[in-house]
Amino acid sequence: MTARKIIIDTDPGQDDAVAILLALASPEIALLGITCVAGNVPLPLTVRNARIVCELAGRPDIPVFAGCDRPVAQPLVTAEHVHGNTGLDGADLPEPMMPVQAAHAVDFIIDTLRREPPGTVTLCPIGPLTNIATALARAPDIAPRIARIVLMGGAYFEVGNITPAAEFNIFVDPEAAAAVFAAGVPLTVVPLDVTHKALTSAAWLGAMRSLGTPVGRAVAGWCNFFERFDKEKYGSQGAPLHDPCTIAWLLAPHLFTGREINVEIELQGTFTRGMTVADWWRVSGRPRNAFFLGGVDAQGYFALLTERLARLVP
Ligand code: RIB
Ligand code: CA
Repeated sequence: MTARKIIIDTDPGQDDAVAILLALASPEIALLGITCVAGNVPLPLTVRNARIVCELAGRPDIPVFAGCDRPVAQPLVTAEHVHGNTGLDGADLPEPMMPVQAAHAVDFIIDTLRREPPGTVTLCPIGPLTNIATALARAPDIAPRIARIVLMGGAYFEVGNITPAAEFNIFVDPEAAAAVFAAGVPLTVVPLDVTHKALTSAAWLGAMRSLGTPVGRAVAGWCNFFERFDKEKYGSQGAPLHDPCTIAWLLAPHLFTGREINVEIELQGTFTRGMTVADWWRVSGRPRNAFFLGGVDAQGYFALLTERLARLVP
């Protein structure tokens, strides 16, 4: 089996952290590097957190890069109210010792795509799309070399989570999102419509603790912290574990359903800026630029997570 080469672009974020762990636990995936972007928390913290996660997984060899520290066209909006002041609240882990790479994240993305054979590298953005859009703008030649972009972001039937209309990753940098959705790169979109069906549970957090490993304890602590916001807001029994759905789709696409549709990013709306206008019923006649997911086998998803995270032992 040839492992799928990916780059995770991320704003850790407890759910980002679980996505990184899932990728590191899966031999089907070759994680070429982690590129950090400002989002849930400012860039210095996302860079810190990504390295904490790599060291927790026993993988200080994974190159971690610092990327863009603000959106392309508006001030940064962060989400400490969800993720805590560090962005990784809920588990007490040591400060990272592994280095940050000297290259800028955008240069790493460009250089990797130019070096690797065309169509062999998948980008997995699970935060605002600033780094990805900046790379595409600086090096348009990379677009046809990208195998696929598998991103967590957007919403349609589930509507917004940071505004009534917009999901956080898209809302933080709508101009970047518009550029990515218009780039003509094969695109899989994991929206809130899916992630809000992938809710953590007390039983699953108990299963994580029962692993008896540092990873299991950290994931349980992160989710216990992370879920308080969504449980209070939505009155749900758990929290949506958003970002690992992207990696799970790569590993087990049969767990998900979706359709090829047109998705545009609203940039002008007074109340709808950052909305993903998803033509689920294909009424617009606009080009189908995204495989937009709509359903998930949540039991299968969490079973996959448990089986893979159990592999990460000291
Ligand atoms: O709206 C959910 C997304 O915003 C997730 O990627 C979460 O980590 C935050 O970045
Ligand atoms: Ca994220």
